[in-house]
Amino acid sequence: MTDCVAQHYSGEDRLSLAIAESLRKAGKDIGTLTTADLASVDEFHIGGRKSTLHLAEALNLAPGSRVLDLGSGLGGPARTLAETYGCHVTGIDLTPAFCEAAATLSEWVGLSDRVTFLEGDATDLPFKDASFDAATTIHVAMNIARKDRMYAEAHRVLKPGGRFAVYDVLQGEGGPLVYPVPWARTPEISHLSTPEEMPRLLADAGFRVVSTEDSTEESLKWFEAMAARLSVAAPAVTFQTFLGNDFPVMARNQVTNLRDRRIRTVTYICEA
Ligand SMILES: C[S@@+](CC[C@H](N)C(=O)[O-])C[C@H]1O[C@@H](n2cnc3c(N)ncnc32)[C@H](O)[C@@H]1O
Repeated sequence: MTDCVAQHYSGEDRLSLAIAESLRKAGKDIGTLTTADLASVDEFHIGGRKSTLHLAEALNLAPGSRVLDLGSGLGGPARTLAETYGCHVTGIDLTPAFCEAAATLSEWVGLSDRVTFLEGDATDLPFKDASFDAATTIHVAMNIARKDRMYAEAHRVLKPGGRFAVYDVLQGEGGPLVYPVPWARTPEISHLSTPEEMPRLLADAGFRVVSTEDSTEESLKWFEAMAARLSVAAPAVTFQTFLGNDFPVMARNQVTNLRDRRIRTVTYICEA
C-alpha cells in the first residue's frame, strides 16, 4: 500500500529539473531564489506558506530546536521553519522523488545545513526515543491507515512536553468524497479520520490536545481561488508539476468536497 502512495506522488523522474524549468518559465533565476519563490510548489497543503507559519507559532521553536516533519514532501514547511526560527528540521517522507527534490531545493536556497530529508515511513521512525523538541505533520495522515502507529511514533521520538502540530484533512459529515483529490485518485489510498475520532487517536498515543482549530471555511476560499486561477491559465509553478494534468480537476473537486463538508481541515496542537 505504501508503494501505491509513493507512486501517486511520483509524477516526474527528476522532479527538481521539472521545477527548475517551471521556475525559469516564470522568470525566476535559480541562483537568486528565495523560499517564498518556491512556496507555490513546495508548500503542498491548503493555505500554503501562510498555514505553515500559523502552525509554527504554537510549536515554541527557538534557534537550535530539533524539529521533525512527518511526511515532509518537497520540504517547503521544513525550510520555512528552519529559515524563520533558526531551528534544524528533519523531514521524513515515503516518496523518493520528493526526498530527492527536497534536498536539491534546499541547496538552491542555501538551507542545506539546517534541513535533512530521509526516505521512510511515518509509522516506523528510524529515530531514538526523545530525539526531538517539536514535531509537525501537514496533510499526510489522509494517506495513512495506521494513524495509531504514526501518532505513537511521533510521541515516542518527542521529548516530554514537546509540541506536536497536526494539520490534516478529515472526513466531514457531508458524504463521500468526490475523486480525484490531490492525495488520491481513487479511495484505495485515502484514509480519512473524522473530527470525532481524532481526539481519541491523539490521546491514545499519549498526547494532551492543547487546542483545536477548524479551518474548513478558509480552506474553501483558498481552493476557490486556486480553481479560478487554474481555469484561466495554469500558473507555471504549481502542484501540477508533479500531480499532472488532472490537478485542475482535483482543485475543482476540492471546492465541492469543502463546500459540501465532505471534508474538513482541522489543526490539533498537542503536547507529549
Ligand atoms: C500532500 S503531501 C504533503 C507534503 C508536506 N507535508 C507539505 O505540506 O508540503 C503528502 C505527503 O505525505 C507523504 N506520505 C504519505 N504517507 C506517508 C507515510 N506513511 N510516511 C511518510 N510519508 C508519507 C507523501 O509521500 C507526500 O509527500
